[in-house]
Amino acid sequence: MRHIRIAPSLLASDFSRLAEEIKAVEMAGADMLHIDVMDGRFVPNITIGQPVVSSIRKTTKLPLDVHLMIVDPMDHIDSFIDAGADIVTVHLEACNHLHRAMATIKSAGRGAGVSLNPATPVVMLKDILEELSLVLIMTVNPGFGGQEFIRSGLDKIKELDRIRQSRNASLLIEVDGGITAQNVAGVIKAGADIVVAGTAIFGSKDYRQAIRRLKLAR
Ligand code: DX5
Ligand code: ZN
Repeated sequence: MRHIRIAPSLLASDFSRLAEEIKAVEMAGADMLHIDVMDGRFVPNITIGQPVVSSIRKTTKLPLDVHLMIVDPMDHIDSFIDAGADIVTVHLEACNHLHRAMATIKSAGRGAGVSLNPATPVVMLKDILEELSLVLIMTVNPGFGGQEFIRSGLDKIKELDRIRQSRNASLLIEVDGGITAQNVAGVIKAGADIVVAGTAIFGSKDYRQAIRRLKLAR
């Protein structure tokens, strides 16, 4: 069976108790922490930046999966690496020099990811596939937690899974947005390796049970 990793999205946590929330999901079986960085330009919302990432780094050993929803991500890749990101993901729609961005991240020994908005086709990655550690398929329009899952994302996951197999590429497929215990089986079946979930975990009473449900759904 494929190894499925669960990445709780801290966006849905209680920021006033961030360290406790991180400890709680860590104890509950989280495989990594998903951190949503938003700049109020690429997306309408503003969330957290490098100082918070470096504070988080001090509270946990879990890998930090940093999702940059910002314009000109090239300007900030180094500082997020310095802050302790293990994976840095930029949006294809926001990055003029994707090849260079991936090389910069990988030369620091971190995972290099590209994210696609719901309207961006998988074929856009055709010429850069071998350079990628992961692809983050958005199943909501980025900007906010708690939105409804966009089902056309499933076909994109399947398409990407087919392409990576035919090209023998080692990239991981991560899926983000609107994932619930009800729709996660479809996401995993389509080919996802990493499942991001905000509301489905932090909105539940029992984090351990919520993570288990997501991980074991088939
Ligand atoms: C949306 C973010 C997601 C979000 C997921 O822009 O990238 O990571 O926090 O939250 P849920 O799981 O609630 O849709
Ligand atoms: Zn995200």
